[in-house]
Amino acid sequence: MAAEVNTASAGAPVDGAKGPPALHVAIVMDGNGRWAKSRGLPRTLGHRAGVEALKRTVSAAPKLGIGRLTVFGFSTENWSRPATEVAELMALPKRYFETDIARLEREGVRVRVIGRREGLSAELVKIIEGAQARTAHNTVFNLDIAFNYGGQADIVEAARRFAKAVAAGEARPEDLNEVVFASHLATAGSPPPDVIIRPSGEQRLSNFLLWEAAYAEFVFQDVLWPDYGAEHLQAALAAYAARDRRYGAVVADDVLAAG
Ligand code: FPP
Repeated sequence: MAAEVNTASAGAPVDGAKGPPALHVAIVMDGNGRWAKSRGLPRTLGHRAGVEALKRTVSAAPKLGIGRLTVFGFSTENWSRPATEVAELMALPKRYFETDIARLEREGVRVRVIGRREGLSAELVKIIEGAQARTAHNTVFNLDIAFNYGGQADIVEAARRFAKAVAAGEARPEDLNEVVFASHLATAGSPPPDVIIRPSGEQRLSNFLLWEAAYAEFVFQDVLWPDYGAEHLQAALAAYAARDRRYGAVVADDVLAAG
């Protein structure tokens, strides 16, 4: 099946758009450190500039036919960075929600922060829960921020949750299938991403959405995340639109050719 992008709806709200369904785009927001270094700035300022790029991207996305954005804000492996940088990264959700939560609420964005709460300060957990509660009724656009998230850890956690249900007599091993397993992941309730974008020139998944990426299309771009904007998102969608999504099947012409 050819990848569909609702470009005809550019400028129109996703919920009122006709045509292909709204896309789920996931982004590894990479390159903050290099952006800062190239300007002789501390890495922390690169992360702050990264928050501004996130704001631009969230604003642009609904106008490009995107209905859901999942972004990687902090990985379970990022704890190994220097303490000052970890402290700055921990301050980013506060910085983002303080300046933008009213706009997100007004524009119909539902915010969800996926990932472990263990390790986060009580203050940060409160800020996250507050942002989620304040936007829980919104339906125009979904923003999932993966924070203290790791794909492998999440898969282990899902397996553990199901094993506990079996041990408690609430489920049987034979009940487990892909759909049931996915319902135990942190991303439960979200369709899998159609496209995963990684800017900054790196070409790897870095433990992001391992299960969910099964049939995602990958787009790698040579721009550092703090420079990211609507034009880069549009270019990524154009690359996605040229892809042929087959989900392990064959296209109709090839079925005929195979006799
Ligand atoms: C990777 O770049 C980026 C991060 C570890 C942090 C990403 C976070 C943001 C862009 C802001 C997120 C906002 C919220 C609300 C959580 P890097 O530091 O590894 O860059 P480098 O590869 O150039 O060193």
